[in-house]
Amino acid sequence: MMEILILFALVATVLGATPADWRSQSIYFLLTDRFARTDNSTTASCNTGARQYCGGTWQGIINQLDYIQGMGFTAIWITPVTGQIPQETGYGEAYHGYWQQDAYALNSHYGTADDLKKLVSALHARGMYLMVDVVANHMAYNGSADTTDYSAYNPFNSKEYFHKICSIEDNNNQTQTEDCWLADSIVSLPDLNTTQTDVKNMWYDWIGSLVSNYSIDGLRIDTVKNVQQNFWPDYNTAAGVYCVGEVFDGDAEYTCPYQNYLDGVLNYPMYYPILRAFQSTSGSISDLYNMINTVKSTCKDSTLLGTFVENHDNPRFANYTSDMSLAKNAAAFTMLADGIPIIYAGQEQHYHGGNDPYNREATWLAKYSTTSPLYELIATSNRIRSHAISQDSGYITYKNYPIYQDNSTLAMRKGYNGSQTITVLSNLGASGKTYNLSLPGTGYTANQQLMEIYTCTNITVDSSGSVSVPMASGLPRVLYPADKLNGSLLCNSTTSSATSLSPLSNSAIPIYLTLAAFVVQLSQL
Ligand SMILES: *[C@@H]1O[C@H](CO)[C@@H](O)[C@H](O)[C@H]1NC(C)=O
Ligand SMILES: *[C@@H]1O[C@H](CO)[C@@H](O)[C@H](O)[C@H]1NC(C)=O
Ligand SMILES: *[C@@H]1O[C@H](CO)[C@@H](O)[C@H](O)[C@H]1NC(C)=O
Ligand SMILES: *[C@@H]1O[C@H](CO)[C@@H](O)[C@H](O)[C@H]1NC(C)=O
Ligand SMILES: *[C@@H]1O[C@H](CO)[C@@H](O)[C@H](O)[C@H]1NC(C)=O
Ligand SMILES: *[C@@H]1O[C@H](CO)[C@@H](O)[C@H](O)[C@H]1NC(C)=O
Ligand SMILES: *[C@@H]1O[C@H](CO)[C@@H](O)[C@H](O)[C@H]1NC(C)=O
Ligand SMILES: *[C@@H]1O[C@H](CO)[C@@H](O)[C@H](O)[C@H]1NC(C)=O
Ligand SMILES: *[C@@H]1O[C@H](CO)[C@@H](O)[C@H](O)[C@H]1NC(C)=O
Ligand SMILES: *[C@@H]1O[C@H](CO)[C@@H](O)[C@H](O)[C@H]1NC(C)=O
Ligand SMILES: *[C@@H]1O[C@H](CO)[C@@H](O)[C@H](O)[C@H]1NC(C)=O
Ligand SMILES: *[C@@H]1O[C@H](CO)[C@@H](O)[C@H](O)[C@H]1NC(C)=O
Repeated sequence: MMEILILFALVATVLGATPADWRSQSIYFLLTDRFARTDNSTTASCNTGARQYCGGTWQGIINQLDYIQGMGFTAIWITPVTGQIPQETGYGEAYHGYWQQDAYALNSHYGTADDLKKLVSALHARGMYLMVDVVANHMAYNGSADTTDYSAYNPFNSKEYFHKICSIEDNNNQTQTEDCWLADSIVSLPDLNTTQTDVKNMWYDWIGSLVSNYSIDGLRIDTVKNVQQNFWPDYNTAAGVYCVGEVFDGDAEYTCPYQNYLDGVLNYPMYYPILRAFQSTSGSISDLYNMINTVKSTCKDSTLLGTFVENHDNPRFANYTSDMSLAKNAAAFTMLADGIPIIYAGQEQHYHGGNDPYNREATWLAKYSTTSPLYELIATSNRIRSHAISQDSGYITYKNYPIYQDNSTLAMRKGYNGSQTITVLSNLGASGKTYNLSLPGTGYTANQQLMEIYTCTNITVDSSGSVSVPMASGLPRVLYPADKLNGSLLCNSTTSSATSLSPLSNSAIPIYLTLAAFVVQLSQL
């Protein structure tokens, strides 16, 4: 019995997922209100412009886990779960979850505590992780700053916990960024004075208990640059799981240093160059080429960043261009560069909303189609990434680097000799020419057999080590050694066992299963 208890304790430890556990994951990000409803409706209307609750729930997410896992994702990131401004404000309702009032309550629109726990159990039963979004910089109030009713807050129910009222006049002034209040006179975001010891301790206690009460595996932290840096290390420690922070700034010199205080940050420095490279057929490839190297040399560990090209704070990629080939290249970069890939719900359906609130379309309206071109491209990309990780434990910490560029093409390499992927991206768009790109410097050996993963084309490396990559219609290409494909389910490769049917690759998951098996064996003694 004692052994069983110890093993349960071990299982619990494994559940608090570390940065190393997260590195190999792949994240699907969704707004709980907008992803799926308990009734499974695919017709319930959702007018983004109205900024009202549309009916998404935690139970709804459980109902659609096959859709998410079918794309190869091993984790979901959900928007904040806490109690919100209950009223209709001048900016609509708190459907997004970023207007917190009661950190100890759950947002009842999404379900009950049991529903949230059921979601976690359903994810863990599939070997998947839950990442929850949290806010520490501010609370929220329906009205102007000077009318704030502090008694509405739990905790922090007094003016003394907050910074003096001021607004950020100069975005380049870090003091103002940290000490002044975000938002405006319609909805104000009372700014916590996070230098105070009691404010720090209240947040550290809270995050520790939130993570443990709901067995949360990781956190996405909102508005990180609006809080002083020295607040974060103890917050990360109190959480005890991987934390990725939102530092909304494209300058690597500004954003990367936050990785000295948190496990990871969202890769905003890469976001803008991805967009610039692929948002049109005259985009800049060289900006992206250069930024790969800049992020690698400036951030502490590029393999722990969150890589994305869409989220709920920026126009969707398809708002810039309807070209499907360009969208595929942007997604392929996201999936196969360094860091943890993050795909925002609706991206796989080529949604094209503009800025907030128009980029928060209900996913259900696309009827959870698993045959859309981007759903399929993302599934294939997740599969090759997972497979490459499973074939070579060094793959995931190997730093991706660009090996080739011309005005419309970028090629990059990740992985050690013999098991590297080479990803070739293009911004020629859907009407791009058909040609063979002669690619040197791939690290493959003469006469080696490769497979192009998206088209399942066999390619033989030439006698000088160059590869002739068949390009067409501006589509991305991914090369991988043909003799290492067995078990991947890609390009007719055989499957080695039932477990390889799972899209999961993560090393932590076999540990769960192994420990669970031990527990079962012991309990039968
Ligand atoms: C919704 O879908 C889930 C998963 O397919 C199913 O178990 C459940 O019964 C459905 N609920 C309703 C109300 O149709
Ligand atoms: C919230 O603010 C709006 C806009 O100022 C106002 O119309 C509404 O009455 C407020 N709601 C409550 C419950 O105070
Ligand atoms: C924050 O709290 C500290 C400690 O109480 C205080 O010294 C400081 O003035 C406060 N800062 C602001 C901007 O209100
Ligand atoms: C930044 O803002 C603070 C507070 O408003 C002000 O005291 C300081 O002079 C500003 N710094 C710069 C460099 O402008
Ligand atoms: C976690 O559960 C404990 C025990 O029920 C409770 O006291 C605490 O407030 C909960 N924490 C959160 C963040 O809900
Ligand atoms: C971009 O988004 C805005 C706001 O949603 C919309 O009006 C516009 O039509 C969108 N453009 C495209 C090309 O999708
Ligand atoms: C690449 O772009 C540059 C600048 O736009 C142009 O001068 C050059 O001719 C282009 N090269 C090719 C091969 O198209
Ligand atoms: C590309 O190379 C393949 C294999 O050598 C060849 O069959 C094909 O015709 C070439 N395509 C073009 C457009 O040159
Ligand atoms: C990988 O291959 C390249 C040339 O193909 C060679 O220069 C390099 O030393 C190799 N690296 C390792 C670690 O074997
Ligand atoms: C995969 O199988 C299909 C049908 O069996 C065949 O047409 C195709 O050539 C095969 N692809 C590869 C890359 O072997
Ligand atoms: C591609 O190569 C594999 C071996 O790597 C071979 O089994 C398969 O038949 C080839 N497919 C085609 C279409 O040539
Ligand atoms: C693929 O792997 C399975 C199980 O490891 C093995 O039985 C099978 O022979 C392998 N197939 C090839 C073509 O190497």
